[in-house]
Amino acid sequence: MSKKFYITTPIYYVNDKPHIGHAYTTLACDVMARFKRLDGFEVKFLTGTDEHGQKVEKAAQVAGISPQEFTNAVSQNFRDLTTQLNFSNDDFIRTTEERHKLACQQIWRILLDKGYIRLDTYAGWYAVRDEAFYTKDEIVDGKAPSGAPVEWVEEPSYFFALSKFQDKLLAFYEANPDFVAPASRFNEVKSFVKGGLRDLSVSRASFKWGVPVPDDDAHVMYVWLDALTNYITATGWPVDGAFGNAETYETLWPADLHMVGKDILRFHAVYWPAFLMAADLPLPKRVFAHGWWTNEGQKISKSLGNVIDPVALSETYGLDQTRYFLMREVPFGKDGDFSVQAMIQRMNSDLANDLGNLSQRVISMIFKNCEGVIPALPVSPSSEDSAILTACDALLDQVRIHIDQQGFHEALKSIWDVIAAANRYVDSQAPWGLKKTDPARMQEVLAVLAEIIRQFAILAQPFMPQSTAKILDQLGVDATARGFDTLAGQARLATGHVIGKPEPVFPRFVEDEISS
Ligand code: MSP
Repeated sequence: MSKKFYITTPIYYVNDKPHIGHAYTTLACDVMARFKRLDGFEVKFLTGTDEHGQKVEKAAQVAGISPQEFTNAVSQNFRDLTTQLNFSNDDFIRTTEERHKLACQQIWRILLDKGYIRLDTYAGWYAVRDEAFYTKDEIVDGKAPSGAPVEWVEEPSYFFALSKFQDKLLAFYEANPDFVAPASRFNEVKSFVKGGLRDLSVSRASFKWGVPVPDDDAHVMYVWLDALTNYITATGWPVDGAFGNAETYETLWPADLHMVGKDILRFHAVYWPAFLMAADLPLPKRVFAHGWWTNEGQKISKSLGNVIDPVALSETYGLDQTRYFLMREVPFGKDGDFSVQAMIQRMNSDLANDLGNLSQRVISMIFKNCEGVIPALPVSPSSEDSAILTACDALLDQVRIHIDQQGFHEALKSIWDVIAAANRYVDSQAPWGLKKTDPARMQEVLAVLAEIIRQFAILAQPFMPQSTAKILDQLGVDATARGFDTLAGQARLATGHVIGKPEPVFPRFVEDEISS
């Protein structure tokens, strides 16, 4: 059986338009998914929308339409985003779908049958914005720790026996040191669990917009229990249900990676594993919590009017440029600041100069001086030729290690270190000077360069699918020969191919032209 990789984004609330934060989480998953596909894995990449809950019910009321009409419209914006940003998800789940309701009700029944759910009364603070309950110790200046307003809620509620899972969770964390990353976030999760777990209210009776609790229509399921279940719904679970599929479930579950923002880590690293343990279902292998973006130093918020629209950004700077910037600028897992200046700086130096100039110069020289035919690699390579080819051949292993740890910035840095070495190689070999003195050697140097550009383009495909495809097209690399099995010295760029007219792939930006 081929290796599988199942990766998920959080499902997005439909009370809002997609913004840079949503695009960032999905982009990181897209890069992972594309990387794994090129590396020979069968990938399932899931994203979708989280459509129930009080927040959505209220937003629909404000818009004067039914929650279903409201969610249909907003969910579509998120679906459109996947095309606009060239995300390669294989499935898009909506929590209002029948397949999902059935899975939620099934998980509920299992938890109830196993004695982990009981009916009681909830009295405490609730923040609709976070869809989360808070204890009085967590309330700061009358607000949730996230700054969201809270309201006092007192209503009958079903409770999940979370308190019974403290030791089991801690033992699981101990046995699975890579379960949560970055490590600092894992420590926060562990201290939260060590601090003691209270039973969790898992139903609401004061509004209707949710999955009905089986056999008790007065309650809808708590939106997080509903939402988290999407990850398993999409695998074909429950296998004997109307939408069940034992084969896909068994291949896909448990998920290899849940990608989330730092704000929703607790739900994924504490509640979700506890629900799964209680239901005797396998636990996901890893949860990665990334940081948050600010905009020119300020928290991004609708009220400040500084929300960054990812589509507008890619229309201004180019889609792949935007993807590259978001993945390269900030160490993944840390918070980062967006600024136009930083974006222009990155695009000009890394893309227009380092990679763009290199490929443009080499492809143009082959076009002009070799009659457009890719020359043959040297039969007896010089030590410089061997050094740069060896550095390139070693890249896949290094990049793979970084990607497996979600070190996207590190992966790009390793590629760009070798691109810098390739630029030094061009300078030292000066192929343009060899044209008159030693045309045969010029051909060898250009062949080495064309081969390493092929490798850079293949490796950078997960980050910049369209631009790398243009480079590979110009080099005449067949679309079926762009997998990672052609790297690390496994294959070389075929000689003899006639290249097309060289076209620059990465334009240079001037700040004034952008802001004016
Ligand atoms: N619906 C829940 C998730 C349920 S998953 C079972 C939810 N949705 S959300 O739409 O509010 O947020 C989705 C993601 O966007 C989160 O991972 C969050 O961290 C991310 N971001 C929102 N604003 C962000 C930034 N300013 N920067 C980076 N990511 C941010 O939570």
